[in-house]
Amino acid sequence: MAAKLIKGAEVAKEIRAELKEEVARLKEKHGVVPGLVTILVGENPASQSYVRAKQKTAHELGFYSVQDDQPADISEETLLGLIDKYNKDPKIHGILVQLPLPKHINETKILYAIDPDKDVDGFHPVNVGKLMIGEANYLPCTPFGIQELLIRSGTQVEGAEAVVVGRSNIVGKPIAMMLVQKGPGANATVTVCHTRTKDIAFHTKRADILIVAAGVPEYIKGDMIKPGAVVIDVGVNEVGRTPEGKRILKGDVAFDEAKEVASAITPVPGGVGPMTITMLMKNTVKACKVLNNIND
Ligand code: GUN
Repeated sequence: MAAKLIKGAEVAKEIRAELKEEVARLKEKHGVVPGLVTILVGENPASQSYVRAKQKTAHELGFYSVQDDQPADISEETLLGLIDKYNKDPKIHGILVQLPLPKHINETKILYAIDPDKDVDGFHPVNVGKLMIGEANYLPCTPFGIQELLIRSGTQVEGAEAVVVGRSNIVGKPIAMMLVQKGPGANATVTVCHTRTKDIAFHTKRADILIVAAGVPEYIKGDMIKPGAVVIDVGVNEVGRTPEGKRILKGDVAFDEAKEVASAITPVPGGVGPMTITMLMKNTVKACKVLNNIND
């Protein structure tokens, strides 16, 4: 039996329509416009394309949006100065520094510099810590999108065996921490697998919910999946180009095999990806309200 597709692109569209209305309401009732700055250092093509997509969406929703491109050889001090400027800018409610940063810049130091109230990525240690104790301000966008997809697809998360493959700070660790919390779309029993895990398949075959953020194209094969599992594929791997130059993307899951075993699965593209950007917008609207003391 073929699995049901969890179409993130469609869910994202619904949430964006809700956000667009909220942005219009905030403008009319409170005279405020959510402001987002995306800072891109260097010319990594994948980062450029992600940042462009974030700016485009912000624009479509009626945000005040600023794209700040900086050269790859920018000093740490200059970048810190830039963040300080946006921390103080009342028109800006969300600050996003696209990762990864060039090697000469200390990523942690940069993330520490962002005002936690404007940290719409949820990467500041204060926000990471709050997530751990169940008091999250801003959830990191990809895990937030994954949880929303689980909820909106009617997946039973409570009591489920959830297995996460990958332990990055951006996806693996935060989604594991979110699923183990008390609350809707959580209360799961969580296992985190990584490059030093002895027998990955042993774990993945037990998963009612399998979340894969390994960064390896088609790493999870059909026979590594429990029949009836819900599979969330976070991978976005460029494996080539069409003759027209379009990117050919593959997930971390061998989709054609997996869809015969799973009960539901996210496609790549059109699954988790569009949700990430949408949740960034949701966080920015929230930041705008918090910073302006708006409660309605
Ligand atoms: N690089 C890959 N994913 C992300 C993300 O969600 N936020 C930022 N800032 N950089 C990223």
